[in-house]
Amino acid sequence: MNTQKTKDKIDRRSFLHSAAGVGAGLVFSPIASGQKRSNKKPDDINVALLGAGEQGRVLMNVCLKIPGIRFKAVCDIWTAYNQKRASGLLKKYRHENNAYVDYKEMLEKEKDLDAVIIATPDFWHADHTVDCLKAGLHVYCEKEMSNTLEGARRMVQTARQTGKLLQIGHQRRSNPRYIFCYEKLLKEAKLLGQITAVNGQWNRAVAPPRIVPRGKEIDTQTLTRYGYKSMQQFRNWRWYKGLGGGPIVDLGSHQIDIYNWFLDAYPQSVMASGRTNYYDKKTHEWYDTVMAVYEYQALQGPVTAFYQTISTNSGNGYFESFMGTEGTLVISEPHYRCGLYREGWVKETKWDHWVKKGYLEKTEGLDQPESEDTVAEVRPPSPKPAKYDMLVKMNKPVHQPHLENFFDAVRGEARLNCPAEAGYETAVAVLKVNAAAEAGRKLDFKPAEFKAWQNPA
Ligand SMILES: NC(=O)c1ccc[n+]([C@@H]2O[C@H](COP(=O)([O-])OP(=O)(O)OC[C@H]3O[C@@H](n4cnc5c(N)ncnc54)[C@H](O)[C@@H]3O)[C@@H](O)[C@H]2O)c1
Repeated sequence: MNTQKTKDKIDRRSFLHSAAGVGAGLVFSPIASGQKRSNKKPDDINVALLGAGEQGRVLMNVCLKIPGIRFKAVCDIWTAYNQKRASGLLKKYRHENNAYVDYKEMLEKEKDLDAVIIATPDFWHADHTVDCLKAGLHVYCEKEMSNTLEGARRMVQTARQTGKLLQIGHQRRSNPRYIFCYEKLLKEAKLLGQITAVNGQWNRAVAPPRIVPRGKEIDTQTLTRYGYKSMQQFRNWRWYKGLGGGPIVDLGSHQIDIYNWFLDAYPQSVMASGRTNYYDKKTHEWYDTVMAVYEYQALQGPVTAFYQTISTNSGNGYFESFMGTEGTLVISEPHYRCGLYREGWVKETKWDHWVKKGYLEKTEGLDQPESEDTVAEVRPPSPKPAKYDMLVKMNKPVHQPHLENFFDAVRGEARLNCPAEAGYETAVAVLKVNAAAEAGRKLDFKPAEFKAWQNPA
């Protein structure tokens, strides 16, 4: 037997289970640094799924594509429906698992778990995460990290105290296209010049409430025990105060996270309008229409960032658009919405270097004459970002790189791309939109707010 190999394996195994080794992602990944992944079969990671609803099953299905991940348990209070579906499907794929209603019972009985994936409604994230971390598990917790900053703070603090990993589900942070645009196009090539404005949105068409399949109701006692007043509220928790945060938190958190990341800054202030223009306020306690304006002081200068989410019209879908003196980058999770535009006054040759370097791909019509008007909107055909459809070519769903990054970190091979501290910063920026809408005035952020997890509980 190759003793070095055996030693490596033992080291990796003990590392996987050790609290100290992985705290705050102390080890840097050979994968993240661009080297090749070793051919060695990775150690199995035993996982539980906590919350097997729509997103829980999306994550579960992605995990089934990742080598070395073994599901051991599913916990969900909706036994007759989501729990049964997830547990049954896993068994079909030979992931023998135990099913639970209560997560505390799962933590007590399942002694062989390494990690848990949490996809319960937002108001449960803090308790679920904190208890799982304390039980010695690494946690992948869906966004929004928590519906309260108090909850989010407990999550960061517990991750740091236990030395266990906590990845927040802002999956764009691991999307190779987002990483490429940030590192190569914005930071290195500085293609946009000075970014002065950001514009983004997530608009959706009118949608009926989520329904309950006939005969699949949860009994009232169980609903009450877990914080729900009715099946209607249980299914549509996003719209209820105290359970979710409405579309600005549900959808906006993904994109405002990108604003902070790409600008390398936190906002200094936010003003917002939030109204319920269409739905019944009894079933839609949070605003169906939100428009917010953030002010940033980025390294290059001031940036004003607009964000809107409309739940009654899907016009132009969802995207983030970074607008600089020399160009615009439009980026979104669907790759076909990605685009790059050079301002009319910027000489085409200025971007040639980056085409040669492989950062940009030339598009047809690049040599068309540009408009004489240098201040009106002219969009000379611009090269598109290279490999803008990388995930499609890799045949990976959008959540896969983020889950892979989490599991690589659990194995001590990577740093987390969205650790608890980064999730906290985003939660601070996002949750204040609802507060600003309610206050009806501009609210300021103090820099210390973004690090408030450092304050004792
Ligand atoms: N990253 C993304 O792209 C993305 C997309 C959608 C949703 N999400 C997030 O995923 C989470 C879940 O959203 P969803 O759309 O799947 O909701 P959902 O209502 O479809 O699923 C939630 C599941 O949790 C279960 N549950 C509720 N309370 C529980 C408790 N106390 N213990 C155990 N199980 C409990 C429910 O029975 C249900 O099966 C949310 O935080 C949401 O913001 C993220």
